[in-house]
Amino acid sequence: MSINIQKKASSKISNVDFNNLVFGTVFTDYMFECDFVNGAWKQPQIKPYQPLTIEPSARVFHYGQAVFEGMKAFKDDYDQIWMFRPEDNFDRINKSAKRLAMPEFPKEYFFEGLKTLLKLEKDWIKKGIGNTLYIRPFIIATQGAISASPANEYKFMIICSPAQAYYPGEVRVLFAEKYSRSADGGVGFAKAAGNYAAQFYPTVLAQKQGFQQVIWTDAHSHQYLEEAGTMNIFFRINNTLITAPTSDRILDGITRKSVIQLAKDNHINIEVRRVPVKEIKQAAKNGTLKEIFGAGTAAVINPIKGFSHNNEKFELPEIENSYANLFKEKLMNIQYNKAEDIHNWRYKVN
Ligand code: COI
Repeated sequence: MSINIQKKASSKISNVDFNNLVFGTVFTDYMFECDFVNGAWKQPQIKPYQPLTIEPSARVFHYGQAVFEGMKAFKDDYDQIWMFRPEDNFDRINKSAKRLAMPEFPKEYFFEGLKTLLKLEKDWIKKGIGNTLYIRPFIIATQGAISASPANEYKFMIICSPAQAYYPGEVRVLFAEKYSRSADGGVGFAKAAGNYAAQFYPTVLAQKQGFQQVIWTDAHSHQYLEEAGTMNIFFRINNTLITAPTSDRILDGITRKSVIQLAKDNHINIEVRRVPVKEIKQAAKNGTLKEIFGAGTAAVINPIKGFSHNNEKFELPEIENSYANLFKEKLMNIQYNKAEDIHNWRYKVN
């Protein structure tokens, strides 16, 4: 496999204010692109980041035949570049692709593409905890034909965006009572583009009431808390951490499973089971609910300050020695090569 690289004369990096990044708005100099035509992935290319030319009839526009991933690259104090569990992202994009009747992307192309791109973009990855390069691989259906059936042409791409925090302020959430994100047998487990679009309207309604996110409940009864849409969700009652099990409705988050492992490593009691809304409200009322936090690639670990359900509002107490801080620090120390990596989660880009 060889990658055709089209170099740029000069970088646009000097125009970027790295201290005031708004998540997902600034993109690096290059993008990786590979087309699927006549039943095969063609020669991959890296070219300057630029607009695409795609048929208006492409199925991505009409039926949302699109999947994506979120990954990050980190630079340590010695200028070495690292990623975190990228094999899991690779496996997941292909699981997502399969569910949307899209061709799977070859592993060698994925990792060679990623490494070659990151080496070209190394100056965009800044040192210092909290500075990252957010990496967005995605696959879209490009064949120009609007019959409602799987396309036979696709484009796999990777674009990169320097990033700091995903949620810059405090996060309060609304527990879903009417709308649903996913259902049994659906695509909730996949990183399908449409899963995210479907959340926008209910999330905008929640934002008008002062909540940044919706916590999705099961579509059947709205009695069980499942995930935050951009994050998986954890609850701490006394010193026990609780999170919902993955299923065909819930994303198998890489940060989620890392937190579960770190909890075990640190002898924190962790229960992976259904989380009744009733139990969390009860615990908030009797003072045993100590923390709620989200876990995801973009957000890392994000404490939730308060929640609302059925017009009842709850604020979480300020807490010393929070699990959210503990896991965030432990994760970041591994990601930035500042701590031992007993599970081999770090992946060196060289
Ligand atoms: C990520 O955490 O990488 C995600 O995919 C969430 C995203 C929609 C920002």
